Amino acid sequence: MKTKLDFLNMKKNHEPIVMLTAYDYPSAKLAEAAGVDMILVGDSLGMVVLGYDSTIPVTVADMIHHTKAVRRGAPHTFIVTDMPFMSYSTVNDALQHAKAIMQQSGANAVKVEGAGSVLQVISSLTQSGVPVVAHLGLTPQSVGVLGGYKVQGKDAESARRLLEEAKACEQAGAIALVLECVPKQLGEAITKQLAIPTIGIGAGVGTDGQVLVYHDVLGYGVERVPKFVKQYANVQQTMQQALAEYVADVKTRQFPSDEQSFTMNEQQWLALYGGK
Ligand code: KIV
Repeated sequence: MKTKLDFLNMKKNHEPIVMLTAYDYPSAKLAEAAGVDMILVGDSLGMVVLGYDSTIPVTVADMIHHTKAVRRGAPHTFIVTDMPFMSYSTVNDALQHAKAIMQQSGANAVKVEGAGSVLQVISSLTQSGVPVVAHLGLTPQSVGVLGGYKVQGKDAESARRLLEEAKACEQAGAIALVLECVPKQLGEAITKQLAIPTIGIGAGVGTDGQVLVYHDVLGYGVERVPKFVKQYANVQQTMQQALAEYVADVKTRQFPSDEQSFTMNEQQWLALYGGK
């Protein structure tokens, strides 16, 4: 399994870091087999797996439950687990919830969104031995405050603020930084000014790595994908067609055929029913 040092070396050697979300045993198994460097058990699971319309309802118990399944599917991959909404509003809450996630789920690190008071959280968790990934730019847990899912850091002033926040996250001890929905120039500038790796999502090609949501990559259960997503398949279409064929086969008694049926030998059948 790769470690924090491996990720730092990848940055030094300009080797792109691949992160992908996963939420359960089969998605984790496929992610590990594909060779991703890091798995993120994102609180996006609230939307793509649990059917909520935001990440807000996701709980620490949800994150632990899903991370345990991901760990079973990807025993050799570095796993980062999101700390969900309001689970790190105070340093004490953060310590208590990170302790539960790290001890119960098999995660290797936790991820928290934002800077400001979150910097104290990053530094306290780090001092307690919990590796922390920071997350800046579009931070979905604050979407109500940000006023929607919008690109961040588009003007010089907010870009400068993001750059300062990124440096502060590194200073506080973050092992990596997820940068979401920022102009590509800013993604590259922040990456150049940090020693820790940056993992972009909608942050251009100049970050040290990229992360995408599993369901977006595969075209699975998603109606519409954001501009920054590249969809590599449309498995939903294949799955929908397979399910429709199953329904039709059962309705027309084409399933199960002899191929999917068990038989008794003739003598035993006669012994049971006497040939009637
Ligand atoms: O929850 C998530 O999947 C994330 C990624 C979008 C970075 O935080």
